[in-house]
Amino acid sequence: MRKVGIVGVGEYLPQRVLTNADLEKLVDTSDEWITTRTGIKERRLASGDEAVSDLAINAAKEALANAHLNPEELDLIIIATITPDMQFPSVASIVQNALSAKTAVAFDISAACAGFVYALSIAQQFIGLGTYKIALVVGAEKLSSVTDWQDRNTCVLFGDGAGACILKEVKSGGIISTYLGCDGSKLELLNLPAGGSRLPASHETVNARQHFLKMQGNELFKIAVKTMTDAAEKVLKQAGLKFSDVDLIIPHQANSRIIMAVGKRLGLSEDKIFLNIEKYGNMSSASTATALVEAVKEGRVKKGDIVLLDSFGAGLVWGACVIKW
Ligand code: COA
Repeated sequence: MRKVGIVGVGEYLPQRVLTNADLEKLVDTSDEWITTRTGIKERRLASGDEAVSDLAINAAKEALANAHLNPEELDLIIIATITPDMQFPSVASIVQNALSAKTAVAFDISAACAGFVYALSIAQQFIGLGTYKIALVVGAEKLSSVTDWQDRNTCVLFGDGAGACILKEVKSGGIISTYLGCDGSKLELLNLPAGGSRLPASHETVNARQHFLKMQGNELFKIAVKTMTDAAEKVLKQAGLKFSDVDLIIPHQANSRIIMAVGKRLGLSEDKIFLNIEKYGNMSSASTATALVEAVKEGRVKKGDIVLLDSFGAGLVWGACVIKW
């Protein structure tokens, strides 16, 4: 297998900021509750005429510029999303056309909050085997479009955004190991019931608010801590490394208490844990992606560093990845 590395990163966060104070006017909540229970202070919301592809295209353009590459050089585009513009065609087809990446194969994957790490792993296989040379991987979500703004249990948690990276063969470093998992026995903990082939859109489904995501947060919390800890241990073992070798862990940003509990179990000091949840909330596949992008932009990831991505979400699915930068 060829060595595969990330050679460019980009992100796009919509302009509109929704603060905890704004949410206090919508539902029975408080800045104090949201901050202490989740770590979130504000989140971004896409505008009415911005779809997920628009967020993805902007992030992709920045990543291509950062990698000093033209869209025509891409031969693979993978978009991780659970909030596509429409059921079909894929967001990836829309992005391919918008970028004029005419020769790129393009498809979406649905792995919720682990989608970005799943997509990285798929791209790594294709490039590692020599099937394709240059890949664009994007995690993009418009979760505000599936958020029930009357449900205080969920509406305070989510936001919109996109993070992108360019992968290609590298001489040294790159992705050392990936570890993916799924437990399909707990679908009820986090899902969006209607709008698919099980429950097509009808007046009944709309009236029953079944086009909004449903979550049993408390139960998920415990599983998230255990699963993310386990995934980090497994992927690091596969890489032949120890936690003392890790320079920065970049976890999925669902809840700062989950992240800190995982960090504590792994014996990582707080300065080795990347957090941006206070600015964006949980953006599903876009969370790990933008966290990686911002860690790079802020200089928290330097050449030669060992970076550990760790994600978990609806499915249930999880994915971890060790990268030598
Ligand atoms: N404002 C004020 N009170 C709220 C609230 C809000 N926005 N949302 C819930 N509450 C209330 C509940 O009604 C409950 O009240 P009660 O005790 O009177 O019934 C109380 O706060 C505690 O609720 P609980 O659900 O036990 O809180 P929690 O500490 O578990 O925090 C989450 C809730 C959702 C923040 C947390 O469980 C979480 O982050 N879960 C994991 C999410 C996750 O990992 N998702 C998967 C990846 S995407």
